[in-house]
Amino acid sequence: MTATHAFWLAGRQARGETTFDVTSPWDGRLVGRVSVPTDEQVEEAVAAAYAVRDEFAATPAHVRAAVLDRVSRCLVERTEEIAQLISAENGKPIKWARGEVGRAVSVFRFAAEEARRFNGGEAQRLDTDLGGQGRLALTRRFPKGAVLGIAPFNFPLNLCAHKIAPAIAAGVPIILKPAPATPLSGLIIGELLAEAEAHAAGAAGAAGAGAGTVLPVGSWSILPVANDRMPALVQDERLPVISFTGSEKVGYAIMDSVPRKHCTLELGGNGAAVVLADYASDEDLDWAATRIATFSNYQGGQSCISVQRVIADASVYERLLPRIVAAVEAQVTGDPSDGATDVGPLVDENAAKRVEAWVQEAVDAGAALLTGGKRDGATYAPTVLADVPADVTVSCEEVFGPVLTVRKVDGEAEAFAAVNDSKYGLQAGVFTHDLQTAFRAHRALEVGGVIIGDVPSYRADQMPYGGVKQSGVGREGVKFAMDDYTYERVMVLTGLQL
Ligand code: SIN
Repeated sequence: MTATHAFWLAGRQARGETTFDVTSPWDGRLVGRVSVPTDEQVEEAVAAAYAVRDEFAATPAHVRAAVLDRVSRCLVERTEEIAQLISAENGKPIKWARGEVGRAVSVFRFAAEEARRFNGGEAQRLDTDLGGQGRLALTRRFPKGAVLGIAPFNFPLNLCAHKIAPAIAAGVPIILKPAPATPLSGLIIGELLAEAEAHAAGAAGAAGAGAGTVLPVGSWSILPVANDRMPALVQDERLPVISFTGSEKVGYAIMDSVPRKHCTLELGGNGAAVVLADYASDEDLDWAATRIATFSNYQGGQSCISVQRVIADASVYERLLPRIVAAVEAQVTGDPSDGATDVGPLVDENAAKRVEAWVQEAVDAGAALLTGGKRDGATYAPTVLADVPADVTVSCEEVFGPVLTVRKVDGEAEAFAAVNDSKYGLQAGVFTHDLQTAFRAHRALEVGGVIIGDVPSYRADQMPYGGVKQSGVGREGVKFAMDDYTYERVMVLTGLQL
């Protein structure tokens, strides 16, 4: 019999009156059964988060840091088990799932480090003008209020980590909602946090420092609430900050429904990899082709920064293209639990059918199908398209599938214009060795991140991450999310001898 997974209400395990099933996108088997919070339980979690906000903000940094450090260490110990869980509920190949756990280890560790550094305060002398004589401004950050974090299915552990770890580091209460398709990886974070709190309480007790919960009750809840119940939570004034990662449509619908709340939106992208004329040796082109093939297909292309568009200078295009096709064909598609698999299923069969329809639309409009183009249930074969008309869906929208389009351009200016010819602006990769070109790319490209010498899919979890244009607003990356959850409040001291 399948055990029912509890959810986390104000840091405690709880169960509701109904459940839902989580199944594997690969073979449809039951992966877990999840308990759903009732309306009363959701209310209890929100009321607790609201009530605890001042107490949590005042919690000493060492208390928050110790919990975060412990979660990071426990993730290391449980890597294999958690990777198996991610792979089972998401369909992500096990090697990528292990990588995701490794990234979450870093996110919690960074959060512990930032908790120790955060909010030391910044002093600014004001006697630069006559009216400020004897005055000093001291600026510190304070929470905007409790956060509603809404996480997607594609990195079910790490994108939950990116919402909850900075909240704890900054002393900001959070209600986290994992994606309905992949709630188990998010709920594991609750288990780890509860264990870390129990460990810290035990350590404090042993040291005679008093027992009890180290983070005040209500600091965090993880609630697997169905999407159709979310509007009420989104509207709740006790949760003035919303941190959403997911589709453009849902993200903007949320923001439009609460124009006076602070919303951070991490939305879609159609990441471009630019290969310029100076990136021309056999070694260069092999590296570029391998990186492009790997990162157009990792997670089945279900990453907002997967490579969707290759924009190559005419001088390297003919040598690059066969390398890309060969590297894409070398991607192993199959059972996500097999260590050799590179590409597993998409999140469900409907997603694969959508990708199939978009590729067919491009081919019908005259695009050349160089490889792939086949669907088997929820799995879509790694696909490369050339000569793709600019107005078809794969050229304009985020595919969120293992599909790559390639385009030939003349020179850097045309390449950069092609990158910018998109409603999205998340990250771009530029393969060049030239530092001046790198700086020009940094200036010219309308994106949140420019990766030189690699694909747009590179993300280090401590760096600022987020988009411009329709890719969203605000930044994640541990310290940047902490800034986002808090605001600067200045205190002016008067009558000082500076
Ligand atoms: C995303 O899909 O936006 C997240 C990408 C990542 O964290 O690598």
